[in-house]
Amino acid sequence: MISNFNFYLPTKAYFGKGQIAEISMAIPKNARILLTYGGGSIKKNGVFEQVQNALKEHFYIEFGGIEANPEYETLMKAVKLAREEKLDFILAVGGGSVLDGSKFIAAAVPFEGEPWDIPYKKAPILTALPIGCVMTLPATGSEMNHRAVVSRRATKDKVSLYSDLIRPQFAVLDPTTTFSLPARQTSNGVVDAFVHTLEQYATYPVNGKIQDRFAEGVLLTLLEDGPVLLDNPTDYDARANVMWAATQGLNDILSVGVPGDWSSHAIGHELTAVYDLDHAQTLAIIVPALFTHQIEGKREKLTQLARRVFYYQGDDTQAAEFAIQQIRIFFERMGLKTHFSAMGIDDSQFSLVLQKLAEHRPRFIGERQDIDQAAVKRILYMAL
Ligand code: NZQ
Ligand code: ZN
Repeated sequence: MISNFNFYLPTKAYFGKGQIAEISMAIPKNARILLTYGGGSIKKNGVFEQVQNALKEHFYIEFGGIEANPEYETLMKAVKLAREEKLDFILAVGGGSVLDGSKFIAAAVPFEGEPWDIPYKKAPILTALPIGCVMTLPATGSEMNHRAVVSRRATKDKVSLYSDLIRPQFAVLDPTTTFSLPARQTSNGVVDAFVHTLEQYATYPVNGKIQDRFAEGVLLTLLEDGPVLLDNPTDYDARANVMWAATQGLNDILSVGVPGDWSSHAIGHELTAVYDLDHAQTLAIIVPALFTHQIEGKREKLTQLARRVFYYQGDDTQAAEFAIQQIRIFFERMGLKTHFSAMGIDDSQFSLVLQKLAEHRPRFIGERQDIDQAAVKRILYMAL
């Protein structure tokens, strides 16, 4: 049975070519803006110039240098700046890391106490600065969701914060801003969005027909248009479809009323913290192993996936195995590795991965909460 749910999605999307100009109307004219960005891609691909033009009548201060897997120490410099300059609106321009980092800044600026407690101890967020964004990397869905993931390299922590108060008020989604993405980031984005959809779909059936069929639409779109982008990075339609697919992949529309897994993400975050692997690369390694380990609990939905998304025609006994095989083939087609060994990683640090996972997730994980430490260890070895 579908669980009860409340659904409210207040982020306004400005989708399409030239839509960055809209931020001039979307942000109040009297706002004091913190304009956040990453390592400089926006200054090379024309995005920054468009943002500058749109903000001609606004006051803003720039803060660049937010890293991939945004670093707490860097973000705290922005918090200090925002407090000193009494900034009251954040415009994040970049990928998921810039946006997630900006969500943390938005919560940390008015926070009384140690801001690290927000992600690490899940200290409640009572208020936050408003955020808008120009999303330049379709992947995380961060542009329309209420979560963020921040890292602290010194202690090998990668942890999440959640609050409706950090959901962006608006998201500019101009597919042409993604033409400049390196192939690795395009692939990462497609795989991340694919796995978000699986985390909400490949669980157990509750007869959520809309959620299932929306999810299948997202998966089919990524399967079709992801590879197109490897051959033709400036295909507008493919960029547009992948961009909207990534947004829908993690903006709650697929998750309401149905079970969620999220164990690949839980393990994946520890792998990024320990090995410095790209987020999507961790998922490509873990998902095939985890789904194989959990195959009986997921069999019905994997069978549905095999038939509806991978057009499997055989009998039911091998359908789930077929779906997992096709997932692996797709990740590899997108250029990601699906084994640790292919990344030159052995088992010598698995104990640290398990230790950090236990620190961050003291309870069992998975849609049935049936994955314990011993199971995670088996999954890590299956992924070698
Ligand atoms: O920093 P710049 O110079 O902008 O370059 C970035 C970065 O090097 C580059 N890039 C972004 N847009 C570009 C571009 N290069 C050329 N042209 C463009 N249009 O891409 C590199 C990677 O960017 P990043 O933001 O790190 O990637 P992504 O969007 O995949 O974000 C990954 C982060 O998001 C978290 C991940 O854990 C990771 O920390 N996630 C956030 C989620 C959420 N908020 O809901 C959910 C996800 O599961 C994920 O955990
Ligand atoms: Zn993800």
